[in-house]
Amino acid sequence: MACCSSFLLLLIRLFFIFFTLSESAVQIQGLGIGINYGQIANNLPSPSRVSVLLRSLNISRVKLYDADPNVLVAFSNSNVEFIIGLGNEYLENMTDPIKAQNWVQQRVQPHISQTKITCITVGNEVFVSNDTRLHSNLLPAMQTVYRTLVNLGLDKQVIVTTAHSLNILSNSFPPSAGSFRPDLAEYIQPLLNFHAQANSPFLINAYPFFAYKDNPSQVPLEYVLFQPNQGFMDPITNLNYDNMLYAQIDAVYSAMKAMGHTNIQVRISETGWPSKGDENEVGASPQNAELYNGNLLKRIEAKQGTPANPSVPIDIHVFALFNENLKPGPVSERNYGLYYPDGTPVYNIGLQGHLPEVEFSFASKNIHILPAVFFSFLIYVIASLIWV
Ligand SMILES: *[C@@H]1O[C@H](CO)[C@@H](O)[C@H](O)[C@H]1NC(C)=O
Ligand SMILES: *[C@@H]1O[C@H](CO)[C@@H](O)[C@H](O)[C@H]1NC(C)=O
Ligand SMILES: *[C@@H]1O[C@H](CO)[C@@H](O)[C@H](O)[C@H]1NC(C)=O
Repeated sequence: MACCSSFLLLLIRLFFIFFTLSESAVQIQGLGIGINYGQIANNLPSPSRVSVLLRSLNISRVKLYDADPNVLVAFSNSNVEFIIGLGNEYLENMTDPIKAQNWVQQRVQPHISQTKITCITVGNEVFVSNDTRLHSNLLPAMQTVYRTLVNLGLDKQVIVTTAHSLNILSNSFPPSAGSFRPDLAEYIQPLLNFHAQANSPFLINAYPFFAYKDNPSQVPLEYVLFQPNQGFMDPITNLNYDNMLYAQIDAVYSAMKAMGHTNIQVRISETGWPSKGDENEVGASPQNAELYNGNLLKRIEAKQGTPANPSVPIDIHVFALFNENLKPGPVSERNYGLYYPDGTPVYNIGLQGHLPEVEFSFASKNIHILPAVFFSFLIYVIASLIWV
């Protein structure tokens, strides 16, 4: 019977694969959850397997840190929307219209009819470094990439922005008193003018974990984990904040307002919580990561707005899909993933996904399963014939 039960298992598995494939043919209503698909690792599953995992999770918004063609091809004919990235090392070249046009024509245009690319982030956390050339190149690079998209007629479907660390704020509490660092004003003011003109959102990477870790005796854990708590009152607006992330978002709105801009949307390009950390990284644990991300997902699904902007649903890309074993820095850096590279969840937040064991391709509409599967199928059939 052993042979037959494993044969049956294989059949079930194949059925599941076909089921997943046919299900993907219909438009799946996404839950609005975005996820960062970082790839600083040497043990991640192939993009085509990841595309099945994300389909099974109903995740239809993905952010990359580059424009990896392997990923973009693996997601062709899917309904997944991509934010793609230009790393900081590209900024100088992107100030050159010829180089910007070459990049868009080589890295974006070939994919755009099959894969929904909706946004390009030009640089990531540029103001974390103190490389002033990088600071000065940021806006010209964004403008040049934007003009290229306009020239190619792509500016209506692809927006241009950049992602900032929350460190660009000098003050974030109370939220109504949020302000940008004075030393960055000369860069941020024209940047905001660009966002307003190009109608593109302002992206922030926000980690309440950092605030908790730096000050665990002062920052209530419930407040950073979206758990029930009294919250903090903003004494100027009388708005009550029951979690730090919303306070951070509204602090950015206030900082923009102080520079004369009230029509630029704030989105969270990264947020998350590590499931593991060094001994001094207080709060990094699977329990806290499960609470942070699980509670956050519920608020995303409820399309909540922040206290100062209740009618604007929070727009969030969670960091990150996988643990990334080659990221430098403290242990926490390698443990932000919702999933281990083998596709098992690091903790349970109700996202039951399926990472297929076998490789197959969505690249063309004719889906082909690799010969290896048919080969093992054949072996099972022969084995079962012999055993019966
Ligand atoms: C995905 O979305 C579909 C349609 O909204 C729903 O029926 C299904 O349960 C969802 N699956 C998951 C894993 O959330
Ligand atoms: C920038 O352009 C130069 C000259 O074309 C090229 O050699 C270099 O590789 C480019 N840098 C990046 C990061 O693409
Ligand atoms: C900033 O630059 C100074 C020297 O100009 C250097 O000593 C310092 O370490 C740099 N800081 C960072 C965060 O790179």
